[in-house]
Amino acid sequence: MPGAIYAEGLVKTFGDVRALDGVDLDVPEGTVLGLLGPNGAGKTTTVRCLTTLLRPDSGRAVVAGIDVLKQPDAVRRSIGLSGQFAAVDEYLTGRENLQMVGQLYQMRAKAAKERAAELLEQFHLADAADRPTKTYSGGMRRRLDLAAALVVSPPVMFMDEPTTGLDPRNRQQLWEVIKQLVSGGTTLLLTTQYLEEADHLAHDIAVVDQGRVIAKGTSDQLKARTGGERVEVVVHEREHMRAAAEVLTGFGKGDTTVEEHMRKLTVPVTGGAKLLAEIIRELDTRGIEIDDIGLRRPTLDDVFLSLTGHVAEAKDEDSAKEAVK
Ligand SMILES: Nc1ncnc2c1ncn2[C@@H]1O[C@H](COP(=O)(O)OP(=O)(O)OP(=O)(O)O)[C@@H](O)[C@H]1O
Ligand SMILES: [Mg+2]
Repeated sequence: MPGAIYAEGLVKTFGDVRALDGVDLDVPEGTVLGLLGPNGAGKTTTVRCLTTLLRPDSGRAVVAGIDVLKQPDAVRRSIGLSGQFAAVDEYLTGRENLQMVGQLYQMRAKAAKERAAELLEQFHLADAADRPTKTYSGGMRRRLDLAAALVVSPPVMFMDEPTTGLDPRNRQQLWEVIKQLVSGGTTLLLTTQYLEEADHLAHDIAVVDQGRVIAKGTSDQLKARTGGERVEVVVHEREHMRAAAEVLTGFGKGDTTVEEHMRKLTVPVTGGAKLLAEIIRELDTRGIEIDDIGLRRPTLDDVFLSLTGHVAEAKDEDSAKEAVK
């Protein structure tokens, strides 16, 4: 039984550009999937195909139990979409925009009015509700855009980079709203370039690159794939690097990576803080002075970089890969 959002082999080309090269997705009902990927990976194109705005060249998609290609109108009635392409009418006020959306969805005028007022309150837009939206700040527009997508509380929501361009406070606020929404049972697919956001909000993450899903799993699963914990040491004297490497290799469960120019050594470990204390003692016993030492767990950043290889220099990329083996 496919989930609330299901895609199989989605392909979309624009001339020579193969924007989607066989995207598969399956999002269980009531969960959040974070679609992560670099610029041009195909995130927006995926969202547009799933929300009936674009017709894929081939593949199959089912949203809220409805076939996207066969019954686009029915799909449209079951979903909410916000993000990079959503439209807010600049000359209408925030309140008018929301009421208009309600009416588009055939709500009665009174119900649309009430819903608009509720959302304006929830998104901290009540004070600005009766101003034309062209006077709104970027963050206010984003919030209105999201509110517009929520007018009819659809069972399935798509958000394309919902918090791009927001300051940290506004981003936090939006995360809270999104969490509330999901706790109410909504299934959500959200795209983001902020790994922290995916980490925070998504049950599952799909990493997209060049039109394909190249990895899938929970944040923890993806991190585990990248390699577990490691200890990083920066020694004070360059001459001590070899001796320090010996110590680390003795405690580690793999080879020690050496970054000569930074006097930095990295070794994969298990055993966490206790092991860290032992390493410090041993280094001290051998008279190896250190500038810095730490236990590092892979972040989603590490996952992303090691999967997509979208790191600055080939040289740095190699050492990054070494370090997480
Ligand atoms: N309408 C279009 N015409 C031509 N090429 C397009 C069109 N839409 C998307 N593309 C191309 O398809 C590829 C995928 O684009 P898409 O917008 O899906 O990426 P994205 O992952 O959303 O990127 P971003 O993070 O920058 O929003 C890119 O190479 C893009 O240039
Ligand atoms: Mg995009």
